[in-house]
Amino acid sequence: MALQLGDTAPDFEIESTDGTIKFHDWLGNSWGVLFSHPKDFTPVCTTELGYTAKLKSEFDKRDVKVIGLSVDPLEDHHKWLGDIEETQGTAVNFPMIADPDRKVATLYGMIHPNADNTLTVRAAYIIGPDKKIKLYVMYPASTGRNFDEILRVIDSLQLTAEHMVATPVNWRHGDDVIIVPSLSNEDAKEKFPEGWKELKPYLRMVADPKNKA
Ligand code: BEZ
Repeated sequence: MALQLGDTAPDFEIESTDGTIKFHDWLGNSWGVLFSHPKDFTPVCTTELGYTAKLKSEFDKRDVKVIGLSVDPLEDHHKWLGDIEETQGTAVNFPMIADPDRKVATLYGMIHPNADNTLTVRAAYIIGPDKKIKLYVMYPASTGRNFDEILRVIDSLQLTAEHMVATPVNWRHGDDVIIVPSLSNEDAKEKFPEGWKELKPYLRMVADPKNKA
């Protein structure tokens, strides 16, 4: 069965541009983003990798380790990284997995034969410190992903993990958030002593707890 939210992200050992990676050990206690792209030396992928590299300080701030993957061999990755630096103005600063045998691609269901029989789709997985899959998205080869959205989801997931709040439609850091329904009013009083705005008993809005930080 395909991987689902809440499943443990499968562990693997594989070669990457940073050497051999044992995935769970490499993640340690950090959050992770594992993303695949269809092919080296292709235009959309080139822009995605450059942009993701530029977000390094944002990922670091959130204690997130990023790792890319395609089914190309390691020597192609190394050659292509030079092109990315040249055209995108930044060096790729995260490991790229070489998966020519489709070991990880198969484990994660990144090949969708009715879209393309051999190449990976644009998959992205956010993995929590508990190694559980918190989000996955699958994009077609022709559409570059929005990595700002990946960061936004990480912000939301981390808020939920730390503060028992959920985030409403189109939420951005700093906007009001929602007290999770599983938290009783009694317990919410302890967590949010300054109170909240109750629009409905199930819709309790409170300021973003990170605004205080
Ligand atoms: C690209 O990255 O530009 C791309 C890769 C595979 C198919 C189409 C586009």
